Amino acid sequence: HAPLRVALVGLGTVGGGVIRLLNTNGDLIARRAGCPIQVVAISARDRNKDRGVDLSPYEWVDDMNSLATRDDIDVVVELIGGSDGPALTLARQCLNAGKPFVTANKAMLAHHGLDLARLAEKGGIALKYEAAVAGGIPVIKGMREGAAANEISRVYGILNGTCNYILTTMEKEGRGFDEVLKEAQELGYAEADPSFDIDGVDAAHKLTILASLAFGTELDFAAVATTGIRHVIAADIAEAAALGFRIRLVGMAQNSADGLFQRVHPMLVPLDHPLAHVDGSLNAVVAEGNFVGRLFFQGRGAGDGPTASAVVADLIDVARDEYGDAFAMPVAALTPQNTADAGAR
Ligand code: NAP
Ligand code: HSE
Repeated sequence: HAPLRVALVGLGTVGGGVIRLLNTNGDLIARRAGCPIQVVAISARDRNKDRGVDLSPYEWVDDMNSLATRDDIDVVVELIGGSDGPALTLARQCLNAGKPFVTANKAMLAHHGLDLARLAEKGGIALKYEAAVAGGIPVIKGMREGAAANEISRVYGILNGTCNYILTTMEKEGRGFDEVLKEAQELGYAEADPSFDIDGVDAAHKLTILASLAFGTELDFAAVATTGIRHVIAADIAEAAALGFRIRLVGMAQNSADGLFQRVHPMLVPLDHPLAHVDGSLNAVVAEGNFVGRLFFQGRGAGDGPTASAVVADLIDVARDEYGDAFAMPVAALTPQNTADAGAR
């Protein structure tokens, strides 16, 4: 099939990761998607910045909003961030113009997701955001699709890789908060403004999205009571350990007779709970459904590779919506199994 032509807006940690992933796994992705996925146009702030990847094959576009109406672009990927401003303008322009839109921008979705979803629905346009929650963990697809038949009573988890990296590195290596935060920034985990991470705001953005998926409620960021880890010190971690707990920044949304409780704060997690063993930049999400029981999703929640993996999964979805598939590839692309003991059966 003809390639899916992608415009990539934002060439930082995640944007660079998307280009590297497509360059590395392009053939495999083409088979799975039913067509090649090709970045054709790129945009960011600084055209001359060295990004460690060869950008010469792509057309540089100064006016990102022009991408919304270009017939030679099939889908726009927004990886610049920010709840308002250029990201939101681009999203609106694309969805109004009927252009499929992929984003990792949880801040924008937490604040404007309803409006964007309305635009997308009105025009029958794809709006995909797997990378917005828990990085590489396919938790959006898990909740929207896998758990869709269940009444969910509670969804909770570790939703911020930067905070988890800070808490677990402080605990294991006895290093100071500021030093570990700096390292998390260098590793590409933190938001452009890391106070979003350490004050719990990023986790609250993600919880806002998760709660809507789990409970079918409108996104309501203001309803999330939020406390971050800024004031956690080594002595707190040691005290928790002495009592048999670990400190984790947990986001939780729970249905009760009084309504939906949504909160993000540092919690004492007992050592026999799986969340106590989620270390480094890993994230984990637990969802409790009335038929499926407890679902536990875990994986890398931040950084270029995991996040790019989720963005490209969305692009593959966009391509598949076009061409269809049942077994993760179009039937024509499936190969016979090389089963070692086939003769024994
Ligand atoms: P980043 O490294 O700071 O990169 C941001 C990119 O956006 C840069 O290329 C920057 O251009 C461009 N940009 C910023 N403002 C712009 C503007 N006004 N106009 C045009 N381009 C602009 O950020 P990131 O870590 O890749 O994150 C991107 C998005 O993914 C954010 O929404 C973030 O929350 C989300 N996300 C990140 C991660 C992660 O682990 N990093 C995980 C999940 C989701 P220049 O390079 O030219 O300055
Ligand atoms: N800053 C975010 C985090 C990136 O640390 O989890 C992934 O969403």
